[in-house]
Amino acid sequence: MLKFSESVSFDRRLAPFDIQGSKAHAAMLAHVGLISGEERDAIGAGLDDLAREIEAGRFRWDPRLEDVHMNLEHALSRRVPAAAKLHTARSRNDQVATDMRLFLKHAGAVLQTKLRDAGRAALAVAEANRGVLIPGYTHLQRAQPVPLAHHLLAWLEMLERDRRRFDDVRDHANWCPLGSGALAGTTLPIDRAFTAKALGFVDHRGRPRLTSNSMDAVADRDVHVEFVFACALAGGHLSRIAEDLILWSSAEFGLVSLPDAFCTGSSLMPQKKNPDACELMRGKAARLQGNLQTLLTLTKGLPLTYNRDLQEDKPPVFDSFDQMAICLDVLAGLLAGLSVNAARCAAATADPALLATDLADYLVGQGVPFREAHQAVGALVRLAEQQGVPLNGLSLEHVRSVHTAFGPDWSEVFDLERAMAKRSGVGMPGPARVRRELARWRKVLR
Ligand code: ARG
Repeated sequence: MLKFSESVSFDRRLAPFDIQGSKAHAAMLAHVGLISGEERDAIGAGLDDLAREIEAGRFRWDPRLEDVHMNLEHALSRRVPAAAKLHTARSRNDQVATDMRLFLKHAGAVLQTKLRDAGRAALAVAEANRGVLIPGYTHLQRAQPVPLAHHLLAWLEMLERDRRRFDDVRDHANWCPLGSGALAGTTLPIDRAFTAKALGFVDHRGRPRLTSNSMDAVADRDVHVEFVFACALAGGHLSRIAEDLILWSSAEFGLVSLPDAFCTGSSLMPQKKNPDACELMRGKAARLQGNLQTLLTLTKGLPLTYNRDLQEDKPPVFDSFDQMAICLDVLAGLLAGLSVNAARCAAATADPALLATDLADYLVGQGVPFREAHQAVGALVRLAEQQGVPLNGLSLEHVRSVHTAFGPDWSEVFDLERAMAKRSGVGMPGPARVRRELARWRKVLR
């Protein structure tokens, strides 16, 4: 049962938050006169000692004391007599809820920084390869040319939404449950606002934010789920980025090459360079989604208020944080060492058929309805195929035989630079627009 029931093997990482919470709680107890100023100071100093021991790896965690809270309280009470008063007007239920909210606020901020760093790395690749065009794909078939930068900025959009999502998570974590007791508060004259302020559970004006129902406060795990969801969704984005890189770095595409430090060879085939970092990132997305499923299932159908099942809320949260953090570090490193093969990119965008849509737009400019234009260009594509020439290699005669709206200027459409310049609207991949977007992202990620 000891082995089954203990959580200290994983919740010990809450120690800094638990100590922070205990110090604030002791300060509040002194503030309302439930303990003396000397007792508060003795508790505070004892907790500081424990924090140093833990940091140095000298603290002996004991699974018989079940969790981080009891380990710390027990160790403290062996050195400081006043520690026997620390748990006044507090339960492990509101204590663990507080610890986790402090952890989630911290973890959200850490991941936001890492998301920004990964975004910066993507932006640097975009800026260093401004002139490079690559094929954009739908159905994994070459569709239309786009600047590589435009594709990378699409990643930035995804990563920035992920970063913003953690603003919400941090905001939702920012309510102090301390004072909810086991489930029904306390008869003692505590000052919840004092503790909330001491722990930074405040709004933008510094006003304390207190959970408003003691039962909800000890039973609620919504913000755990939201955090893990934010990680799962971001992980899904990372897996799409990873997949782009896997494809681009294959011999078939050859658009980029990944830094050796993030790849491995094969134990059998000497020529292989495998994109392991990207594949792992794709794999981690599954794990992050699994953690979300775990938490949703854990809380489903659970009667109010605290049930011991809720001890299982922590491993998925910690795992999502750790995996997300390292995925973002790896992505930033991968991108920093990415090299773009400009010649292969140019070759991949050289096929004039990628501008078939532009040719249809040309006809629209001549007053041809789009459906009719689409059909005419389709006929031209087939004709070029039959003749074994590129789309722009057809004669004007042939082209006019398909549709008389084609004029002698029809082949100007295939000037790639001109074609890109025309895509100047908001959100489009024209060079002027991409330049502005790069500048905007430089500011956003500053
Ligand atoms: N280790 C417990 C957890 O993480 C702490 C709360 C225990 N509360 C209780 N009533 N047994 O859930």
